[in-house]
Amino acid sequence: MMPLNGKTVFVTGGAGFIGSAVVRYLLDRTEANVVNIDKLTYAGNLDSIPQAVGHKRYVFAKVDICSGTRLRALFERYQPDVIMNLAAETHVDRSIDGPGKFIQTNVVGTFTLLQEALHYWHNLETSRRSAFRLLHVSTDEVYGSLGSVGLFTETTPYDPSSPYSASKAASDHLVRAWWKTYGLPAIVTNCSNNYGPFHFPEKLIPHIIIKALADEQLPIYGDGQNIRDWLFVEDHASALALVAERGSVGETYNVGGRSERTNLEVVEAVCTLLDQMEPSRQGSRRRLISFVEDRHGHDRRYAIGAGKIEQELGWRARETFESGIAKTVRWYLENRGWWQAIIQRGYDGKRIGLSHGTGVASIDA
Ligand code: NAD
Ligand code: DAU
Repeated sequence: MMPLNGKTVFVTGGAGFIGSAVVRYLLDRTEANVVNIDKLTYAGNLDSIPQAVGHKRYVFAKVDICSGTRLRALFERYQPDVIMNLAAETHVDRSIDGPGKFIQTNVVGTFTLLQEALHYWHNLETSRRSAFRLLHVSTDEVYGSLGSVGLFTETTPYDPSSPYSASKAASDHLVRAWWKTYGLPAIVTNCSNNYGPFHFPEKLIPHIIIKALADEQLPIYGDGQNIRDWLFVEDHASALALVAERGSVGETYNVGGRSERTNLEVVEAVCTLLDQMEPSRQGSRRRLISFVEDRHGHDRRYAIGAGKIEQELGWRARETFESGIAKTVRWYLENRGWWQAIIQRGYDGKRIGLSHGTGVASIDA
């Protein structure tokens, strides 16, 4: 049976990178009714869901998850069976320069969503109450940094390093508390670095592809030996649909692609693929690699142990890093209009995240 058939699913942040992959998955691969709830920040982009235009199982609501009143109206109108919470501020470098928005959306927004979900859930009839699920999508960054060995498991203590990961940790704690205290049927997933189509150009892989195509320097923070564990975004979307359908309430599932790479390896892989797919007259793009000042609080290594979701729910990433990165580079070459429109709207690709936190006392900053 296809997951989530006939159910009404709220996807918050459904215009973002992972949220849009979830919406595409739900529209293309299930019979779920989708309500995409997104504020459309700089990171939100409805062009990432072309199949949603005129789709009979899709509704878009331009709503901030910090607005309890607007959320309550959506709950009353659409009566969801499942909520998948992906609305967030997500870029570590931005959180260093301006943490206020991260506290607002990731902490206050999650709190507001939980309160409205709880209010709605209390008033459901018994069978719908027991079937209701709130899936909160989080990150492996809450676990902090690993040494050269070991994997994050679902019981690894939280030890966040950046304003972003601290705000995500806070939101995860709120979700678990709403389950333990009020019984709201919630599940948390913690995922490693995603990559793939429709990724906003500030993140490492699209950043490098776009700079390499422009023949600009490819900035690698520090010594390039920091390790991330890469997961193709469509594999993540399938994992989230499965957890929403079959995950156990109150549980946490780590999601990862068994693909650890140093940042230098990632950048070199992108250069090699671009050189093959669209050679430059100037020679290999590796000549553009440039080591720059490190990120403050830069976690050294992330690596996800995904054994629980693999064994208990039978999920496994389909893409290897090699197959996924080739698809990704090809997608950016074939879909220049998507990312060039973002640049035309004002995204300039300049280095950010080097401030020392002065002058950002307000939650609104
Ligand atoms: P993204 O930045 O691409 O998209 C976030 C979306 O949330 C945007 O569409 C934005 O408009 C929307 N949004 C922001 N604030 C909002 C608000 N107050 N109300 C409503 N909508 C709002 O993010 P992403 O990379 O797709 O990440 C989605 C979720 O997955 C986040 O919770 C993130 O922490 C988590 N996550 C991301 C990764 C990754 O590698 N990208 C890995 C693990 C976990
Ligand atoms: O691990 C999951 C997390 O992955 C998510 O929770 C975050 O939302 C998501 O943004 C991502 O965080 P990272 O900080 O790992 O991603 P980012 O693409 O910003 O950076 C990846 C690595 O590459 C990191 O070690 C910093 C480095 N980097 C990044 C940029 C943008 C560079 O060396 N150069 C760059 O220009």
